[in-house]
Amino acid sequence: MKGVVFREFFNYIEVQHGDEMLDDVIVASDLPHGGAYTSVGTYPFEEMLSLVHSYTAASARSEGCVFAGFGEHCFLNWLSFLPEFFSPARHLFDILEQVNDFHEREVRKLYPDAELPTFTTESRGEHDMVVGYHSEKQLRDFAVGVIHGAAIHLRVAIEVSTEDAEDAAGPYTRIRIRMAAPAACPERAALCPVMPPI
Ligand code: HEM
Repeated sequence: MKGVVFREFFNYIEVQHGDEMLDDVIVASDLPHGGAYTSVGTYPFEEMLSLVHSYTAASARSEGCVFAGFGEHCFLNWLSFLPEFFSPARHLFDILEQVNDFHEREVRKLYPDAELPTFTTESRGEHDMVVGYHSEKQLRDFAVGVIHGAAIHLRVAIEVSTEDAEDAAGPYTRIRIRMAAPAACPERAALCPVMPPI
């Protein structure tokens, strides 16, 4: 996993709980290099799992909640990388249909060896979209959080659910996204009830 993701995770903990919590989480994770990451470096995914584990213990949040909140945080911080691609004038479903192109064209310019996921459109209607999320890492809650981040940015209300799926290449996650009426919008509170508003 690229160092930029680790650094963003540290930033997420700091924003949520402050410096002291971050220090505690790094110490508790017993990392081989004491938590020093360069953005372009590549580090074992297990180190991220260890950090998330320590953070869930320290913050009393579930792992799913932490990954979802972190995914949302990443999207909202990283969209400035190419704001026009994420223009609020665009439709969420169009953006999701082009995430692979964005990752492969733009993200690879900075991180040529990034291990990026693949999203496949399984169906798309006016209010519903079903995408397949394929990844070695199976970060389904993170992926859902990133999609929620995009919806917050575009100011659209969505409901998201996931289920296990399988094709010839193996298991993957099916993600269902439904445009919700604003009154039914679960917003970020449902994603992680203890998370303070931005
Ligand atoms: C709707 C938009 C986006 C979605 C749905 C999305 C989804 C994801 C997911 C699920 C991962 C986790 C890796 C995996 O599952 O294997 C990931 C990784 C990553 N994404 Fe995105 N992403 C989006 C936008 C962005 C943006 C705006 C950037 C800006 C730089 C970005 C850069 C990255 C990077 C650097 C990684 C880490 C790759 C690695 O560690 O090797 N993504 N993305």
